[in-house]
Amino acid sequence: MSSLRIALTKGRLEKQTVELFEKMGLDCDELKNKGRRLILKANDYEVVLAKAADVITYVEHGVCDIGIVGKDTIVENGKSFYEMTDLNLGKCDFALAVKKGTNFFDGFNTKRVASKYPNITKAYFESKGMDVKIIKIEGSVELAPLLNLADGIVDIVETGTTLKENGLEVAEKIMPVSARVIVNMASMKLRREEIDEFLKKIDSVKPQ
Ligand code: PRP
Repeated sequence: MSSLRIALTKGRLEKQTVELFEKMGLDCDELKNKGRRLILKANDYEVVLAKAADVITYVEHGVCDIGIVGKDTIVENGKSFYEMTDLNLGKCDFALAVKKGTNFFDGFNTKRVASKYPNITKAYFESKGMDVKIIKIEGSVELAPLLNLADGIVDIVETGTTLKENGLEVAEKIMPVSARVIVNMASMKLRREEIDEFLKKIDSVKPQ
């Protein structure tokens, strides 16, 4: 049978995930010296490196059996897969942030909120019964209030350094975020034993 294929989120989560794979006893030489290659071997597993939202797409379409991706991307994009394990890695928070010293909730005008996560932003303000204008931004969302494009941002905050260095602060925390293991629904039926074995191994080495 072919190797189980695992989609791994590149960037932010990559290093910590590779460290976890090493603790599982996997040979991570290719992953650590990948150059520009995108498909790599780790023992019997084939590892694909992709952007977070694409990890979900590959797992949903069944071209990857397993994915490792942040809860932020799951809540924003996720639909049909099994979310199996919280890896306790890449811990951060979704938060509403504003320019230091301003009160987002003051006044009666419709507020403008910039985010890479329009669905989460919409759900958050709906839960507050607040009508806001959402502006989709692709990266460095912190720029939007600085340029007066938005009154606030909804984004992930890890160390808080980006906010601090740009004169912004958290107005309200929305929800905690961390990396999760997701599994394709058909793979779960067809390759249960191999998937269980992977999950058991990763569970035994993840931070508790
Ligand atoms: C994320 C997030 C914040 C920053 C938070 O961006 O969107 O900008 O990290 O981290 P901190 O609290 O530790 O400063 P990322 O680095 O993923 O880049 P991007 O916004 O340009 O996509």
